[in-house]
Amino acid sequence: MDAHHVPVLLDAVLAYLAPERGGLFVDCTVGLGGHAAALLARAPAARLLGLDRDPEALAVAGERLAPFGDRVRLVEAEFHRLAELAGEPPRGILADLGVSSLQLDRAERGFSFRREGPLDMRMGRSEMSAKDVVNRYPEADLERIFRDYGEERQARRIARALVEARRDRPIETTRELAALIERAKGHQGRGGGGGVGRLREGRVDPATRVFQALRIEVNRELEGLSELVDQAVRLLEKDGRLVIISYHSLEDRIVKHGLRDLARGDVDRVTGRPLAETRLIEVLTKKPVRPSAAEVALNPRSRSARLRAARRI
Ligand SMILES: C[S@@+](CC[C@H](N)C(=O)[O-])C[C@H]1O[C@@H](n2cnc3c(N)ncnc32)[C@H](O)[C@@H]1O
Repeated sequence: MDAHHVPVLLDAVLAYLAPERGGLFVDCTVGLGGHAAALLARAPAARLLGLDRDPEALAVAGERLAPFGDRVRLVEAEFHRLAELAGEPPRGILADLGVSSLQLDRAERGFSFRREGPLDMRMGRSEMSAKDVVNRYPEADLERIFRDYGEERQARRIARALVEARRDRPIETTRELAALIERAKGHQGRGGGGGVGRLREGRVDPATRVFQALRIEVNRELEGLSELVDQAVRLLEKDGRLVIISYHSLEDRIVKHGLRDLARGDVDRVTGRPLAETRLIEVLTKKPVRPSAAEVALNPRSRSARLRAARRI
């Protein structure tokens, strides 16, 4: 397997989902089918429903999972349709959030500031692209998304620079945008090597945060997430497992709080005490599971991964 396509935190995913029990498992973000293939290979009595909003990813997953025949069903869908599509209470649900390596690696999808491509960043068939956001949003909205979704300290300065630049002509490409961000942040050009060189180990590219923010905005990535946690937990059968891997702190916070609330249950309005009988899950991960140094060395994209798991009670 190519290192880029190695599924993240695979051992932990399988340990928490425990697919050997057989039954239906839903992979809400089947992507290139890495986790799904490992799960099906490990557990001959398991069936899998795989969802993804990206038709290109589903085509790859379809080929990869073909050897498992009718144990697999793949549907192009946003994960908020999970309950509607599952048909029965699953024994396990997985969501490995974020972008796939296919999306990052294809320059024409516009996700990577390291590759020249159109400013697109759409994971599925959403109407708005990153180009629309960058060229049409008012300055105040750009500043807000860079700050809130990118946790970018220089949000205002970058928003202003983009609005100024687009007065002359629209901002069209990933490298054009990355260069504008670098200039706004007062970085020197990197020179030589066509601009795709890696920065020194451990340093983050100046464009990282703004690209993350645009991706979240274009794909409305945070909006459906707390709903996903809630829907998945309610759908699971008793003793069913939920595993979610997130890749940045905004996502992880939503997952963490969602699980915490469902594990606590409702609160008695009079006494303020938790009502134990309304608890829906037990959280299995006190702290999020992080990849080992060895995994990060093999697959740098796993670096920011945090896995949280819960069991339906
Ligand atoms: C990190 S990849 C999954 C990789 C996969 N676990 C594997 O092993 O190959 C995340 C996938 O989630 C998909 N995705 C993101 N948001 C989604 C949503 N709201 N509904 C459905 N799929 C989504 C993306 O299109 C992408 O293919």
